[in-house]
Amino acid sequence: MKENGEKIVALTAYDYPFATMADESGIHMLLVGDSLGMVFQGKENTLPVTMDEMIYHTRIVAKAAKSAFVIGDMPFMSYQASKQEAIRNAGRLIKETGAEAVKLEGGVTVSKLIRAISDAGIPVQAHIGLTPQAVHQMGGYKVQRDEERLMADALEVQSAGAFSVVLEGIPTDISKKITDAIDIPTIGIGAGPHCDGQILVLHDLIGLNLGHIAKFVKQYATLGEDVRQAMKKYFKEVQAMKFPGKEYCY
Ligand code: KIV
Repeated sequence: MKENGEKIVALTAYDYPFATMADESGIHMLLVGDSLGMVFQGKENTLPVTMDEMIYHTRIVAKAAKSAFVIGDMPFMSYQASKQEAIRNAGRLIKETGAEAVKLEGGVTVSKLIRAISDAGIPVQAHIGLTPQAVHQMGGYKVQRDEERLMADALEVQSAGAFSVVLEGIPTDISKKITDAIDIPTIGIGAGPHCDGQILVLHDLIGLNLGHIAKFVKQYATLGEDVRQAMKKYFKEVQAMKFPGKEYCY
């Protein structure tokens, strides 16, 4: 698709109904992101997410996906400690879920791990720029502007065997230079229009995110508002004995 100039459309998914709808909508790539820690579990950041939780959600999404390519995210501390642990955990994500690939965060510093996992026969998507698992090291969720470092990260993950790389929170001109400089597809989030594809967090896209909404997010629906309205209406109708009416009774 990169060679043909066709944009890759990616989205996160965490459960069966939404993964089914995304798959049916033609989304090419479904990422079971560790963002589920924030948008699904209500945690402050992605750091507490465990391998078992990722396996649980990835299995559900992989079952729903009939044509989308499914990627399982490797949670914090499932790959950083050693090559062996990285290979074992990447293997679990593939073997126990039905996902086709794994994603992990980092550039030059994790390239040896990308090489090891990919040598084990597991496709790896890299993730550079604003890497949420390094939130404390970055001093918050900040746009990353060090062009030299970002370019070095992109080139390094490519030569380590990554099949694709997520560019997060990177200025448009830098992500364009990276996209032009490497052969593997770049998937952008907060990285401008020149990436080979785009990804958004599902809950941001459909208006179900109860937390902070970043500048790069376009909300295509306001489901959160619709759900609140529906629940309030249900509450009132039950109290007023309007529900269940005759048509809902046996
Ligand atoms: O965890 C996640 O959902 C991600 C995407 C935002 C790329 O890493």
